[in-house]
Amino acid sequence: MKPLKSSSVKCIKGTIQVPGDKSVSHRALLIGGLAIGETLINGLLEGEDVLAMVVALRSLGVKIEKNDNGSWSVVGCGICGLSEPTQVLNVGNSGTAARLLMGVLAVHPFSSTLTGDQSLNARPMNRCMTPLSAMGANFQARTGGFLPINVTGLVDPIPIEYRLPVASAQVKSSILLAGLGAAGATKVIEPIPTRDHTELMLSHFGVKIDVEDSPDGARHVTVNGQPELSACEIFVPGDISSAAFPIVAALLLPGSKIIIKNVGMNPLRTGLVETLKEMGGAITVQNSRRETGECVADLVVKGSTLQGVFVKADRAPSMIDEYPILAVCAACAMGTTRLEGLSELRVKESDRLKTMAEGLQACGVDLEEGDDYLIIFGSGSFPRGGAKIKTNFDHRIAMAFLVLGMVTENSIIINDAEAIETSFPNYVQLMNSLGAEIEELT
Ligand code: S3P
Repeated sequence: MKPLKSSSVKCIKGTIQVPGDKSVSHRALLIGGLAIGETLINGLLEGEDVLAMVVALRSLGVKIEKNDNGSWSVVGCGICGLSEPTQVLNVGNSGTAARLLMGVLAVHPFSSTLTGDQSLNARPMNRCMTPLSAMGANFQARTGGFLPINVTGLVDPIPIEYRLPVASAQVKSSILLAGLGAAGATKVIEPIPTRDHTELMLSHFGVKIDVEDSPDGARHVTVNGQPELSACEIFVPGDISSAAFPIVAALLLPGSKIIIKNVGMNPLRTGLVETLKEMGGAITVQNSRRETGECVADLVVKGSTLQGVFVKADRAPSMIDEYPILAVCAACAMGTTRLEGLSELRVKESDRLKTMAEGLQACGVDLEEGDDYLIIFGSGSFPRGGAKIKTNFDHRIAMAFLVLGMVTENSIIINDAEAIETSFPNYVQLMNSLGAEIEELT
């Protein structure tokens, strides 16, 4: 357990870069591992989740090294060219690593076992096993479809067409990655489009991906199996989900001005920026460009007066990881904020809806928690704070409450900051460099 205390500060100022995008980092390593030749990755996130993917891929025969200049080299084995691991693949806290690897392993004709930490082993995996079983893979899971899971893939997997019952980029990616190994077209239909990093990364490796939007708003994504993946160079942008924390801190503190360079602005990830602007947040997007197929920009954020907002369910996939910090923001805004379509938050690294509601209430925030919604009654002044928050080993809960502690009258303590290492290893240092006062408690 590593407790941290965050105390109120006047404002924050400075220019920073946040660590590499977690979703893009996972895909760069994994798809690089399926290409022939050497892929060079710049800006890889060196958080625990991504390092767990490195360890798993090495166990499957992929050569991965960190170079002296900080870039990473991946020498892939080719599609369906991974080798049977001699040990269990433990991906720690990482849902993305577990679900994406499941797709790849489903089309390798050997047996392997995936497991994770206590939190990951309680998260639903049937959502991947159902479509991958239809492609011919065989799974042995714990009752209820939980990790540890043993998977035996097929030599000759069957391409499928599958409509996602939940909006999930992890499930979509798992199926598309399996589709790489199946002869013929594998199609995923998503009722609401989710982050398309897998599609963009596969295109960057030279794979033809067909994307069609139908009049009902659904997106059809098709991959033709057994393509050639050409090794390439990748630039990973900063993670918008990590940038979210300094962005909200700057908005809440009057007189603040920060610049965040090189932030990934994939339009399927920018729901929080849209929402914060609707609340009255002064966020300017500068120097928009493309890197490795992804939209990237610099963000300028200034202290602002914020109003409550209504966020409908259809925006949830584009800001699914940002609800904890948005809830903090709403608690400091003037007026009611209503957030709908949040059922997926219950199966993240923790039950985020419950963990946030309990933590905010302990800090004096008036709210209503529903099955899949949250209503926060903002008074326009900062909550009193002064609570000790249980993070439930959830990195985004930990980081969100440290931001809240920057504005509340009384300091906020989080019981355990360990999980922050999964996605944002230098979080405390970076926030303190901007003027935050976050300190370790012994
Ligand atoms: C991710 C997709 C999202 C997100 C997770 C990363 C990805 O999960 O919450 O942090 O990299 O594909 P779901 O697909 O479960 O919504």
